[in-house]
Amino acid sequence: MKLETTTDSPEATQAVAAQIASAIEPGDVIALCGDLGSGKTCFTQGLAAALGVGESGVVNSPTFVLLNVYQGRLPIYHFDTYRLGDPDTWLDLGAEEMLYGDGVCIIEWADLVAEALPEDRLSIEFEHVSMNERHLKLTSSGPNSERLVSRVTFGSQ
Ligand SMILES: Nc1ncnc2c1ncn2[C@@H]1O[C@H](COP(=O)(O)OP(=O)(O)O)[C@@H](O)[C@H]1O
Ligand SMILES: [Mg+2]
Repeated sequence: MKLETTTDSPEATQAVAAQIASAIEPGDVIALCGDLGSGKTCFTQGLAAALGVGESGVVNSPTFVLLNVYQGRLPIYHFDTYRLGDPDTWLDLGAEEMLYGDGVCIIEWADLVAEALPEDRLSIEFEHVSMNERHLKLTSSGPNSERLVSRVTFGSQ
């Protein structure tokens, strides 16, 4: 299942994330790809807010720490593998426990660790269109990710 949409503001990107959040279950994996500034962290902030992470749970890009964990209605494991770039190192660090665990995993620069990800994952490619526009391409690859994509109701083609 594929769905594409162009958002015209950070809030619109976060609204897509909120729709997805409403269907999230433990063990779901969301793989984000796209250049720097294309909206991956912005999307994650929207997801975390919709899952009930409060003001105090500030969501920042974990580029320098590899992983941030937020507690919402379920744990959110927010990875940024930009500086890692090696699936084996990532697995050695214990990623599997989170990938098949009690929360949702959301991974920035997921293409760098694609081999280590479960086959059933929601992939989102972000593209910078203009100052305030981002093109989002969502692809599901199994029943879990399909449950997530099917929640997105506006901007579908
Ligand atoms: N439609 C949009 N969707 C998401 N972010 C947008 C949009 N328009 C402008 N922006 C801005 O683009 C930037 C995206 O940054 P960020 O989410 O950190 O990107 P990444 O994590 O992919 O490097 C933010 O400053 C955000 O406010
Ligand atoms: Mg980021």
